[in-house]
Amino acid sequence: MSEPIIHAQELAKAYQKGATQAFALRRATFTIQPGEFVAIMGPSGSGKSTLLYTLGGLVRLTGGHYWLAGREITQLSEHELAQVRNRYIGFVFQSFQLLPSLSALRNVELPALYNRQARRDRRVRARTLLERVGLGERLDHRPPELSGGEAQRVAIARALMNDPPLLLADEPTGNLDSANGAAVMALLDELHREGRTVIMVTHDAEIARQHANRILLIRDGVLEQ
Ligand SMILES: Nc1ncnc2c1ncn2[C@@H]1O[C@H](COP(=O)(O)OP(=O)(O)OP(=O)(O)O)[C@@H](O)[C@H]1O
Ligand SMILES: [Mg+2]
Repeated sequence: MSEPIIHAQELAKAYQKGATQAFALRRATFTIQPGEFVAIMGPSGSGKSTLLYTLGGLVRLTGGHYWLAGREITQLSEHELAQVRNRYIGFVFQSFQLLPSLSALRNVELPALYNRQARRDRRVRARTLLERVGLGERLDHRPPELSGGEAQRVAIARALMNDPPLLLADEPTGNLDSANGAAVMALLDELHREGRTVIMVTHDAEIARQHANRILLIRDGVLEQ
């Protein structure tokens, strides 16, 4: 068997709530193999986003150990962590998180600004990715001039800019109608078929059943496999 892309051991995250600590994540232990499509489900406030952002190296853990592609990232400095994130992970958010003042093309280029890629190569790749998600005609549009479905496809193109093996998506269809949601899911399926690992938070049991090969259920910060 190949090396897991993710191995999490007793991950814990607590937030300070007044004088007490509230645990958003408690002793989560699990492994994800390369090429899986995993859905994270659970009630609102159960810790789904906290878990996803923990896997994305965006949350400082209260406890536990986390290996990404064989490297324990809980030991890394902020700078090293940023490099690992940039190389291994593409993020897609419910609310797209595009920069409103930049064109679609510039938004997609952003993750490559931290690499030493030549500007022209960067631009060509961003354009190719936007064409791939069906937005070749929208390169110069700014996010306020895009529909929600288009904005989410720009966000997916951005997530692919550094060709990461792992895609993390937090309710990627949460702000979309069913037709645009289906288009976004078709894209995620395609990226999964190419061999990428996809981990997606969703409220929609039907979407999880149709697209994921495994569901991680979380309740009050506790994983139920
Ligand atoms: N930065 C933070 N500071 C304090 N508490 C937080 C913070 N982020 C999350 N929490 C708390 O942690 C718990 C889990 O939050 P999280 O956002 O992970 O839930 P969720 O399952 O994604 O919910 P939803 O389905 O509504 O998006 C909640 O009680 C939330 O209030
Ligand atoms: Mg959430």
